[in-house]
Amino acid sequence: MGRIPQHFIDELIARADIVEIIGGRVQLKKAGREYKACCPFHNEKTPSFWVSPDKQFYHCFGCGKHGTVLGFLMDHDHMAFPEAVEELATRLGLEVPHEGGDAGPKRAEEPLYDLMKQVAQHFVENLARDARAKDYVARRGLTRETLERFQIGYASNSWNEVLRRFGGSEAARKALTDTGLIIERERGQVRDGERHYDRFRDRLMFPIRDSRGRVIAFGGRIIDQGEPKYLNSPETVLFHKGRELYGLFETRRARTSLTRLLIVEGYMDAVRLHQSGIDYAVATLGTATTPEHLRRLFRLVPSIVFAFDGDRAGRAAAWRALQQALPEAREGREIRFLFLPDGHDPDSLVGEEGREAFEARLTTALPLSEYLVRELTREAELSHADGRARFAEAARPLFLKIPEGVYRELLLERLAEVVGLSPERLGQLWVPGAAAPAPESALPPRRPAARASVGSGRGSLVRQAIVRLVHFPQIAVEVSEGEREGIEASEEPGAALLRELLDDLRLHPAHVPAQVVQRFADREGGDALQKLLEREEVLTDAPGAAGELRGALLKLAEQAAGRRLEALEAKSRSAALSGSELEEFQRLMSKLRTRNARSG
Ligand code: UTP
Ligand code: MN
Repeated sequence: MGRIPQHFIDELIARADIVEIIGGRVQLKKAGREYKACCPFHNEKTPSFWVSPDKQFYHCFGCGKHGTVLGFLMDHDHMAFPEAVEELATRLGLEVPHEGGDAGPKRAEEPLYDLMKQVAQHFVENLARDARAKDYVARRGLTRETLERFQIGYASNSWNEVLRRFGGSEAARKALTDTGLIIERERGQVRDGERHYDRFRDRLMFPIRDSRGRVIAFGGRIIDQGEPKYLNSPETVLFHKGRELYGLFETRRARTSLTRLLIVEGYMDAVRLHQSGIDYAVATLGTATTPEHLRRLFRLVPSIVFAFDGDRAGRAAAWRALQQALPEAREGREIRFLFLPDGHDPDSLVGEEGREAFEARLTTALPLSEYLVRELTREAELSHADGRARFAEAARPLFLKIPEGVYRELLLERLAEVVGLSPERLGQLWVPGAAAPAPESALPPRRPAARASVGSGRGSLVRQAIVRLVHFPQIAVEVSEGEREGIEASEEPGAALLRELLDDLRLHPAHVPAQVVQRFADREGGDALQKLLEREEVLTDAPGAAGELRGALLKLAEQAAGRRLEALEAKSRSAALSGSELEEFQRLMSKLRTRNARSG
């Protein structure tokens, strides 16, 4: 292929909206005429990454990275230069010109695209003529518009229809073989003088199209019963399963602006969702989602929701998807998991409950981090050190698949919370060398309180809170009504004692530890308080302890909210949520989100 002319690149940079492109990947905040964010290229907690729409330029004052929108795509999305150009051009609806015109290997494939197009058309005509196939389509609830939009057709119940119609010459038969439409017989199996036979017979045909709308493969569903239920084109020069997604072309054509994509497992699922107005659904092609799939999708949208059937196979597929998704997880990208009620797939569910109800479910999808924690905690008994150690062991290899950056740091914090270690300590254990003191100076200063309290940063959050209250009872009055309210639902071991202690000290302020121990001497937990006072050292002062106490309360509140979310999510899989439950769900979600955003 020829070079891309400079004038075209200039035009792309002039016309592309750098704020939109970067904003789709990094959460930007407006600051005067410019936008700022935490830098996606290095780890930071206060924003030093600036995007200037006037200059169509970005710059990070922390790590020095800077460049144009093309440079950003190359660095951030790991695209090669021509890919980045193609990406911008597609968004702007431009065709990329090449000096000296197209040449080379591309040209050799042109006739194959042409053949696929003709065969797809042939299948469409077949469907219009075949009563049985039409009846099947009607039973599956597909409308005429849907059939047209997806160019769905029918391959006759014949061993040689495609062969005879399109395979008139040796060259034509080679093209049919190369595109996987016909299969060559074994030696000595020649029948009726024919060395080939049709791959797809008596199947509903779903053409798979590339981003330019060219048919590159087919998926065929057997009409009624038979094995295999679905048959796909093999890998060919036109078709690479691990890269393509069914319905992506149709999605991009249906929508000018996309904010999220829904990934489902089946052709029928994608088609039915589109038909119901959820026209941003794509399907993987009988394989697990690959990191390449995800990279492609994240170029289009910042948010992806996976939908899985509620059965065992669906759960297994979800876990595979999670593992594939980890290398692509990062700040500015949202990956969530939705589990459908048992016995349903998106096709049947959206058919039954319609678009609105289905979209309401999407808002309840679990963030990747929560799904990960949930699955790992299923296996481990977290109230024992053994169980937490097992959890950590299982989490480590998954954690390490995530590229370094803000997202990974946030996940580390979340996992550390479950394990009961500080994020710093867990990071040291998991990434030997990485968190040694040296890089510390390169990082922004840490909350000083967290470092001052070496002796008591350990243990559960409840324990951390109680230790501080016992040592500095006067800080109880600094806890706000809202902070106290947040732990009302906490079921952590010791939470009841913590609540009692807080309430008591807020109502009747105490000033020295002995007062507390005395008051609780005869109550449940009194012994424990005494021991904590004797054994735990708090290396900080009262204001520091107050900050730590409130931090722990906040995290406990978050945990309680997370548990409640999980419970609601679990319930939503077996029964519909009531209006107030849905409302509670959304409130909790948005709370968690703003919190995550703030801590990022
Ligand atoms: P499912 O078995 O869940 O089928 O396969 P489905 O999508 O619900 O199909 P209907 O509703 O019975 O028509 C999900 C996807 O897995 C791949 C296909 O891509 C299918 O859409 N698959 C399934 C195969 O590749 N081969 C098979 O034999 C079955
Ligand atoms: Mn189905």
